[in-house]
Amino acid sequence: MGEPIEGLHGADDELETKLIAIRRQLHRYPELADEEYATTEAIRSWLRNDDIRLLDVPLMTGVVAEIGSRERGPVVALRADIDALPIQEATGLPYASSVAGKMHACGHDFHTASLLGAATLLKRKEQELRGCVRLLFQPAEEKGIGALKMIQCGALDGVQLVFGMHNKPDLPVGTIGIRAGSLMSSVNGLRIEIKGVSTHAAIPHAGIDPIVVSAHLITALQSIVSRNVSAIDSAVVSITQIHAGNTWNVIPELALLEGTVRTLQPESRVFIRQRIEEIAAGIAATFRAEIKLQWTDGPPPVHNSQLAAEIAGLAAQQAGLHIILPEPTTASEDFAYYQQQVAGAFVFMGTSGHYGWHHPAFTVDERAIWKSARYLECLAELAMQKVAIPEAEN
Ligand code: NI
Repeated sequence: MGEPIEGLHGADDELETKLIAIRRQLHRYPELADEEYATTEAIRSWLRNDDIRLLDVPLMTGVVAEIGSRERGPVVALRADIDALPIQEATGLPYASSVAGKMHACGHDFHTASLLGAATLLKRKEQELRGCVRLLFQPAEEKGIGALKMIQCGALDGVQLVFGMHNKPDLPVGTIGIRAGSLMSSVNGLRIEIKGVSTHAAIPHAGIDPIVVSAHLITALQSIVSRNVSAIDSAVVSITQIHAGNTWNVIPELALLEGTVRTLQPESRVFIRQRIEEIAAGIAATFRAEIKLQWTDGPPPVHNSQLAAEIAGLAAQQAGLHIILPEPTTASEDFAYYQQQVAGAFVFMGTSGHYGWHHPAFTVDERAIWKSARYLECLAELAMQKVAIPEAEN
């Protein structure tokens, strides 16, 4: 508190000052996934203060609210994630985290403040809105499960388009990255249990060596990306753990492997899983071993619809942002779960940082808050104008 807030440049200095202040407050008191109680209360209190409608949803943390009227047009959703990370902050900022080992190192405090700003701006013109804006303040993004909770409690019901924004430290303030199609990867976990037959290391023919089987399996798995996935597409298959044996003269019974698969296209995700199963079955038969696969699905790829990306671009022009085409990334986002239900777009907002996401010295340039709030305001308005209400609801 009390430190000077500099860099004001927005049309509404008073609101910008308040947004910077609430972002600093959230930054100072970060809360981890599913523990965002004070954050939830701060969001509620801001929205109540503006007389914005809070929806009654069964969420322990997180907030769903609405501005405008469902009778006057379509429902479009804007999503901000609100959770922090188990990282010890090392920025040296006057408003650095006051909680040991917890930090807003992915800028979700910035996302929250930006959406609160958009909420206030949209509320001011509520009577003119041609539809309804649903505000999704989502918990637990860092666990990859918050979006599913929101969907389960009906946060997307009636929504025609959904938009999300993430800060991007390597883009300057005033620049926005927008891309139609795949932007971020799916995440999948892989656990492989190879069961052989233990034997004396000097008598290998009496057993089945799971270490030799592992070696063949790992090598064969490398051929999926190099020989089965199109060179134009991108994917990652990584084996990251291998455990077998406990001494030098015994061939063990078991080998355990773990790894991860990342894909930009939803189809490659299905295809790679199928190839892993086929290769594992083939290697098992070849060496007379048993191979058990356990596949875990994390978020699917973030895939932006053509229409939503176009609207995101038009809004950026209106908000005076410089648009670039970002490279897709093998990082992931649970925003993708919303896009499985409803078309939408996820965009990258420039925040002129010196360190990447999840770094202890991660920072956001506060000039980006106002630009972001204005952008989300334009985005919601344009989306309501551009999207048609489904016939059945007319
Ligand atoms: Ni993040």
